[in-house]
Amino acid sequence: MTRPGQLDARYRRAKQEGFAARSVYKLQEMDRRYQLFRPGLRVLDLGAHPGSWSQFAAERVGRGGLVLGVDLQEPGVALGANGRWLVADLMALTAAQLRAQAPAFDLVLSDAAPRTTGVAHADAAASLELTQRALNLALELLAPGGSFLAKVYFGPGVEDLIRQVKAAFSLGKAHKPEASRAASREIYLLGRGLKRRPTTT
Ligand SMILES: C[S@@+](CC[C@H](N)C(=O)[O-])C[C@H]1O[C@@H](n2cnc3c(N)ncnc32)[C@H](O)[C@@H]1O
Repeated sequence: MTRPGQLDARYRRAKQEGFAARSVYKLQEMDRRYQLFRPGLRVLDLGAHPGSWSQFAAERVGRGGLVLGVDLQEPGVALGANGRWLVADLMALTAAQLRAQAPAFDLVLSDAAPRTTGVAHADAAASLELTQRALNLALELLAPGGSFLAKVYFGPGVEDLIRQVKAAFSLGKAHKPEASRAASREIYLLGRGLKRRPTTT
């Protein structure tokens, strides 16, 4: 986990490397560990502003892939031809609206975070709501075998969310990246290999 002095170094490095935020190094680390990306993947990035995760994803999926970054505000960085932004509230956005952008996705990311109040239980509740919504969208939009990675602030309800991820995916786990501040209550939920839903008759 990151000590305070390392934050500035990561900020400077992100600037030098052309990334919009140092949070890119959390995604990079989780990609190294869990092999999230490969060329050609279709990626939905929820809570994408200022854009570093989408930038990284667009690089990793290459020209044959697609990255759709969604946020309340439009990120100020440009993506290549394989990426675009959608300004929207993920709490209100429907799966049908997202399907109009791409019929299915292979990887759904969510680094969405509420505007924090400093009241830990209120911030955790707001984060849980965003992450539950991200999971619900992922379950509707992911192709079978697809993956999900989402941030949540640890608090009541997170254990249940982890159970949902474990039930829906072949591999489900919670991870705290090295690049995450030690004092931060954030953890990341990973689901790999969406199971096929049983067909109903
Ligand atoms: C920590 S930032 C994401 C950083 C991003 N992953 C990056 O690397 O640049 C969290 C983002 O979640 C977004 N967010 C919070 N609530 C949202 C909502 N209801 N709909 C869409 N985006 C939301 C915020 O606007 C904020 O830009």
